[in-house]
Amino acid sequence: MTEESGVFIREVERRDRTVLEIRQLSSGDVGCVVWDAAIVLSKFLERQECAEPGLFKGRHVVELGSGTGIVGIMASTLGANVTVTDLEDLQHLMKANITSNSALISGSCQAKVLKWGEDVLDFSPSPDYILMADCIYYEESLKPLLKTLRDLASGETCILCCYEERTTGKNPEIERKFFELLKKDFEYDEVPIDKHDEEYRSEDIHILQIYMKK
Ligand SMILES: C[S@@+](CC[C@H](N)C(=O)[O-])C[C@H]1O[C@@H](n2cnc3c(N)ncnc32)[C@H](O)[C@@H]1O
Repeated sequence: MTEESGVFIREVERRDRTVLEIRQLSSGDVGCVVWDAAIVLSKFLERQECAEPGLFKGRHVVELGSGTGIVGIMASTLGANVTVTDLEDLQHLMKANITSNSALISGSCQAKVLKWGEDVLDFSPSPDYILMADCIYYEESLKPLLKTLRDLASGETCILCCYEERTTGKNPEIERKFFELLKKDFEYDEVPIDKHDEEYRSEDIHILQIYMKK
């Protein structure tokens, strides 16, 4: 990691040895840095693409709570047409990261504001994939987040949700509540850890594959 006037670069090597350079800010809210779940999900997308070449090419992808934008940017390097989303405050960082990695993007990547629970008309038609990394972390957001998933997804949308299991404070209760709400309208399977990237995996980081109930 290198530092330049409040900007820390996180380098993420891709399977073809090219490197994503993701700007993080030394001060700001939780979205200003790359979380481990985002690395695990990004590298999982690459592994899936490696197992099934062309899997993401031309696919319509929306990432929620993108923060730096790393997961969506990785998807766009695999040929997907991606919209990374977050609150207004993160737009500048996401846009800077899209621009600085544009040489690796073979699909497309744009940044938009999407606050969970609010109108998603701008995002139709329903995406093929919704990506989310480390978005289960405070209770007030759970119902709005689930509403956004219901509003955005169709029966065909694959939601890939990567989260770090945390055992301290309110975290176990927040996770329990998330699953309670999720089960009402969605069904899900956990991706076995041996299907995660061979290097970027951890027992406490889970990837869920979620579909709307038929
Ligand atoms: C822990 S960070 C994870 C960032 C990124 N996905 C990663 O894993 O590196 C959670 C992200 O969710 C975003 N977020 C929190 N509440 C939100 C809301 N109500 N609507 C949209 N985004 C929200 C935050 O701004 C932040 O970028």
